[in-house]
Amino acid sequence: MSDLSFVRVEWDGDIAVVTIDRPEKLNALNAEVVSELGQVFDELADDDEVRGVILTGSGEKAFVAGADIGELATMDSVSGVKVSRDGQTVFRSIERFPKPVLAAVGGYALGGGFELALACHMRIASENARFGLPEVGLGIIPGYGGTIRLARLIGLGRAIEMTLTGDQVKAERAREMGLVSRVVDRADLLEEAKALMGTITAKGPVAVRMALESIYRALDTPTQEALDYESALFGLLASTEDMKEGMSAFLDKRKPEFKGR
Ligand code: COA
Repeated sequence: MSDLSFVRVEWDGDIAVVTIDRPEKLNALNAEVVSELGQVFDELADDDEVRGVILTGSGEKAFVAGADIGELATMDSVSGVKVSRDGQTVFRSIERFPKPVLAAVGGYALGGGFELALACHMRIASENARFGLPEVGLGIIPGYGGTIRLARLIGLGRAIEMTLTGDQVKAERAREMGLVSRVVDRADLLEEAKALMGTITAKGPVAVRMALESIYRALDTPTQEALDYESALFGLLASTEDMKEGMSAFLDKRKPEFKGR
């Protein structure tokens, strides 16, 4: 990864830990951060060594405290559409990322930061995490997919309430609402994220990818088409070495060694 100012990538075996590193501004997303995130996810998508990605923020206080309000304050209608589109494109590439992406949310996930976490496939949070969409209080709306993804995750009523009030939700409540799957101590956040991702990366990588494919495809297609697609992927997996390995390992009472093909 070359020439990155605000995003760091570290490795833990086959897991890439991507950290948004702008702690003095609570990791707020300016155009450069968004562009670097896009660059990093593009490069990781093509890297066969990567089996999962953890996305987190630098510092104790925030995952990401939103889009950079200093930048947003200067936009007009034309540049506003571009700001929204640029963010949406990068967040969509995260949602469509071919390997699992887990957001490890330590502290504030507000506005664009919350939307970023929503674009990830899974979320866990530390006890000090806070989720909210303050946009309407700034005279704008969530523009990075939040008006779409939040309702899908927690249902229309609660999504509308969060969007229109801007009220923040604490970590434990976020877990109850299904916004995050686990709440852990701040000090353990990264290790817990790695443990969860490690459970997933030990599974058949092609199967994991196809499962994500099928789940996300179903959101956009009528039921019968989604079922047909699921069957096609199910059949496709029967031709993989991983399926043979997974089933032989079970029958031989040993751990599978998946190759991702
Ligand atoms: N955009 C730009 N700068 C931001 C920011 C954002 N979204 N969120 C925080 N910052 C900056 C602050 O301006 C401050 O910079 P400074 O030290 O140069 O003045 C620095 O990050 C620290 O934030 P601060 O407000 O001093 O921390 P706090 O602990 O008092 O408050 C928050 C934390 C998250 C409650 C508060 O920063 C906040 O409300 N941020 C904006 C959240 C928001 O509306 N996001 C949606 C944008 S669409």
